[in-house]
This record gives sequence, C-alpha cells and structure tokens, in this order.
Amino acid sequence: MAILNILTYPDVRLKNIAAPVTEFDDRLRIIIADLEETMRAGHGSVGIAAPQVGIFEQIVIIDVSAKPKIKQHGRLVLINPEITKWEGFKVGREGCMSVPDYTGNVIRAHSIQLVAQDEYGEQHEYEMDDYEARVVQHEVDHLDGMLFIDRLVSRRHDLFKRKVYK
Ligand code: NI
Repeated sequence: MAILNILTYPDVRLKNIAAPVTEFDDRLRIIIADLEETMRAGHGSVGIAAPQVGIFEQIVIIDVSAKPKIKQHGRLVLINPEITKWEGFKVGREGCMSVPDYTGNVIRAHSIQLVAQDEYGEQHEYEMDDYEARVVQHEVDHLDGMLFIDRLVSRRHDLFKRKVYK
C-alpha cells in the first residue's frame, strides 16, 4: 500500500470527469487500498475520490464512523456511484484535502438515494441523510470535476481560511 500524492486546487486536473470502472480486478483493489491509506493519512478525512490522486475513475471511499451518534453505514467503497434521488436541503461546513487552506459553507441535499457498486462489482442501494449524505455528495462532485468551492453561494461570506489542515 502507498500514500498517494493529493492534487490540490487550482490544479486543472481536478476538473477532469472520471470514467466508469469496468474491470473489478486486482488493479482496482490496489487503487482502493492506496486510496484508503491516503484518506486515513489525512487527519480527520471522512472521504476520498480517485481523481484527487490523479486517477480519473469513478472510485470513492467514505467512512464517517468516527462521528458518534449519527446515522451511517460505516466504511463504504462506492464504485460508479449514482445519486438517484435528492430531498430537502441543508447548509453545512465542508473541507477537502484538495483545498487544504479553506473550509466553506455549502448547500447540499439533506437526504439522498444512491446506487453504487462495491469493489467486486456487486450493486447496492443506499439511503443516506445529513452528514453521510453530505460526504457522498461532496465525493461524487469530485468525479464530475467539481470542488466544494465551486458550490459556494458567496466566496466572501461562505469561505473560511484555516491555518493547518486537520
Ligand atoms: Ni474533497
């Protein structure tokens, strides 16, 4: 396993659209293992998407299990994820390993339905709310070449400088 280099804004490669995964093979599982190690090395990181390490394929890992008392599915590998339903909206603060110097207030759907494959190609359907739904929407955005800073209503009011990425 390896900790991979994270692309950071304004690297234009972060705007690339990720291609669907078609081969559920050992190569994919090595990418997943490296992505997970890279996510865990980013203190407090709850999600990572393959384009953040320059792999433009639809691979996401999330794990919000460190947050106590929230409804969630634990560690999830989401291959070719597709959000099929959005409900409600909520403003919340987001950070990103690709935007290490800032956090921002972003409007996301409160609840989503999601279809995704796992690392073996098996298809699953999920219903998610609140924080977990937010993390998934953030990570799926990476697959579409979008960062949270692209979704701020106002950069002046909703973007916050931070000194150290935590
Ligand atoms: Ni991110």
